[in-house]
Amino acid sequence: MNVESFFSKSTKEALQNDPPGEWMPALPDECIRLSSGYPAPHLMPDKEIKAAVARLLEEEKDQPLHYLGSPKMEKLKEQILDRLSIRGMNVSTDELLITAGACQAIDLIARVLIDDETLVVIEAPTYMEALEIFKNYTNHFISIPVDEYGLQTDLLEEVLVERKEKGLSLPRFLYTIPTFQNPTGTTMTEERRKHVLELSAKYNFLILEDDAYGELHFDKHSTPLKAMDTDGRVLHVGSLSKVVAPGMRIGWIAATSEFITALAWFKKDLDHPFAQATMAVYLESIDMQERVETLRATYQANCSVLLSALEQYLPKSASWYVPNGGYFVWVKVTGDTSELLAPALEEGVSFVPGKYFFLDQQDGTKYLRLSFSYADEKRIVEGVKRLGSVLK
Ligand SMILES: Cc1ncc(COP(=O)(O)O)c(C=O)c1O
Repeated sequence: MNVESFFSKSTKEALQNDPPGEWMPALPDECIRLSSGYPAPHLMPDKEIKAAVARLLEEEKDQPLHYLGSPKMEKLKEQILDRLSIRGMNVSTDELLITAGACQAIDLIARVLIDDETLVVIEAPTYMEALEIFKNYTNHFISIPVDEYGLQTDLLEEVLVERKEKGLSLPRFLYTIPTFQNPTGTTMTEERRKHVLELSAKYNFLILEDDAYGELHFDKHSTPLKAMDTDGRVLHVGSLSKVVAPGMRIGWIAATSEFITALAWFKKDLDHPFAQATMAVYLESIDMQERVETLRATYQANCSVLLSALEQYLPKSASWYVPNGGYFVWVKVTGDTSELLAPALEEGVSFVPGKYFFLDQQDGTKYLRLSFSYADEKRIVEGVKRLGSVLK
């Protein structure tokens, strides 16, 4: 049987792309994972989640195990709305859709907004998994570079002006990670945030704001695009993966109710009522603000250890952006980083080669992404030392 002949046209096209997840080879246990954008293992709330499951089933018996799930799922919405409002996003219940992580949120948005003709603006570099998702729906992209102040909105404007003058199609939406970007760790300035919102109104496109790291600032915090949006153009995607636990798969979309209705149409039962109810009980049982502050302090300390180790062990020709939050540091070196990965793994340290974060992979050969979230301080130093010896 020719299995492929049964695939839809769009599936056949999508299968021409590289397979997903290539950036993360299987790593031996002893390898120091500077590649992984995972939360610190010691900050995983396993005991609290266990207690939340017990409490939920004790109080509600079989209810959370049914299709309709627990009333606590509504509670989770309220808890998320409260956290959004702390950061200036005043969203109502009908403007919020809970999803199975930010990834399902991005996929749903892509499904609802993109057809194979749709032009999408992405950042260069950008989150590789989002890029993979978009590539499943369209081949039409514009990549706009990111510098230490985030997306270069003046370059975006130049492209838009030029396309308009030439009568070319204009983008339908922009995917941006304005705060503690993955992979660069950079944050879009206030001026650029205003500028991108102006551009979206002038050239009539939507903005998918991916805010997976937004709560994890060290000092200054930035106003989310969603909080600055007066026009309903921003679809804000958030997640509890980086602040609670990624295995719970809790994310969301905050957008105007018309978008939420269309997105909910396709979500069906593809998310996890039991995880949502458990999360709500867990959040009731802790002080989330205190937890977030602990995470910020831990990651800030890890980040500063990583930056000092980079100074100490990397060749002088290497350079990087200093992040003000999030999980990552983006490093520029002289060699081709995909060729350096095998020797680094031999030495017992992993990183993600820069090429995976670009539409045109050639643009990323001199970069690598390091994470300071997963390894502890001692292993971060040892990992950078090993990386330094490979780079030298
Ligand atoms: C920018 C960005 N968006 C979304 C995600 C995925 O989040 P989730 O686990 O909620 O699907 C990640 C995870 O690494 C990320 O870095």
